[in-house]
Amino acid sequence: MPAPDALAKPVVDYAAAPEHVAVIMDGNGRWAAARGLPRSEGHRRGVAALRQAVRTAGELGIKVLTLYSFSAENWSRPAEEIDDLMALVKQFVREDLDELHRSGVCVRVIGDRSGLDPEIFRMICEAEELTRANDRLTLVVAFNYGGRQEIARAARHLAEQAAAGRLDPMSIDAAMVESQLDTAGLPDPSLVIRTSGEQRLSNFLLWQSAYAEFVFLPIHWPDFDRAAFELAIGEFHRRERRFGGLTARTGS
Ligand code: FPP
Repeated sequence: MPAPDALAKPVVDYAAAPEHVAVIMDGNGRWAAARGLPRSEGHRRGVAALRQAVRTAGELGIKVLTLYSFSAENWSRPAEEIDDLMALVKQFVREDLDELHRSGVCVRVIGDRSGLDPEIFRMICEAEELTRANDRLTLVVAFNYGGRQEIARAARHLAEQAAAGRLDPMSIDAAMVESQLDTAGLPDPSLVIRTSGEQRLSNFLLWQSAYAEFVFLPIHWPDFDRAAFELAIGEFHRRERRFGGLTARTGS
């Protein structure tokens, strides 16, 4: 796979880093296969890239970084791979949570928590509780996450309230739906990055990325480093964002 030099070298304006960047970390398996390694090694190297991405996001002044770590559809993978991924998530929380906390990172997990392994459920709650007051960077981990499922949960919740007579269905608008999403209170991502060369959203932040810019990088996730992150942000800054209007708007 070629290096990401198909895109021009960016000049990153750190002062104008996008407020919320969301990342689809794709290509761990292909990275490993290309080296004759087991897929588990690709995921292990993926966690190293994830650590570096969190550090870089903080240094670039990004306020929210959302990472797609396990989709609602990933359960269809072989049991052995799921076990590997779950073990890596637990190891990450055990080994990295204290340092994330010390660096001012607020951890937030989005996705369906019903039916999760009780140990993972407990770790998620503890991580959120410990880091709740931190405000340097919000690290949103999408785990057992699917955008359609998230929107369906929000709709179900509003329908329950309407059925109970506590909500007038005519008052339901976009802001009200948004308030029921897992990401309530967070800004929408202005930049969505996907590695591995695939160019699709795969059920990630469907509602929230309505006006996001998409940057698809031709590298696998374990190779995502600071240079690749800066390149994606540089590409973002070259885009003209109009939000449905006629004139370009700048900012995050
Ligand atoms: C995509 O590669 C990656 C994933 C499905 C999982 C990403 C998970 C991690 C980086 C580690 C665990 C997460 C945390 C929060 C510690 P792929 O397996 O789909 O690669 P392929 O498309 O090349 O097969």
